Amino acid sequence: MVHRGATVVPPKELISAAAIGRRVAELGRQIHETLPPGPLTVIGVLRGAFVFMADLVRVIPREMTCDFLGVRSYGDATISSGVVEITSDLTAPIAGRHVLLVEDIADTGLTLRYLRELLTARGPASVRTCVLLSKPMLQKTPIPIDFLGFEAPNAFVVGYGLDAAQLYRNLPYIGVL
Ligand code: IMP
Ligand code: MG
Repeated sequence: MVHRGATVVPPKELISAAAIGRRVAELGRQIHETLPPGPLTVIGVLRGAFVFMADLVRVIPREMTCDFLGVRSYGDATISSGVVEITSDLTAPIAGRHVLLVEDIADTGLTLRYLRELLTARGPASVRTCVLLSKPMLQKTPIPIDFLGFEAPNAFVVGYGLDAAQLYRNLPYIGVL
């Protein structure tokens, strides 16, 4: 919450919790119909993707394992260099498995591209990406997003896992500050 004097101003709602729920259900169906049979590992990028992934995996009705990659962007927090430091690696190999990489938002798309390459190098059967939000900037760097939730405006968005200085992750909707 932004404190202005005595009043607390919550982020302005951009995408409601109900709209997110409907879209996540559609994504789950689409992913289930698209992914070939075989062992599946869903990989969430910490911490932004944890809320989205929790909802998403519950609408993909098939056997899967869940794992997480902890990442931290190098350098300036507001400008992505695309070089990310792995702060916590996967707990199991992904060789021969279908991988669904789940990310909160693609801005430049550089983080997503880096992670996709990192996972591909480990010999999975396939790698697909599911991203909740994509910013207009992404049109400059063509990054393959296989499953996309929503197009976001060119503003800093928070909520539903996304943070501003670690706050707002628990907002049930997506808002702008
Ligand atoms: P990219 O490498 O430029 O695509 O940056 C992606 C990362 O930047 C995401 O994983 C987020 O952590 C962060 N990010 C970019 N835009 C936003 C935003 O509007 N709100 C919260 N985090 C953002
Ligand atoms: Mg992130």
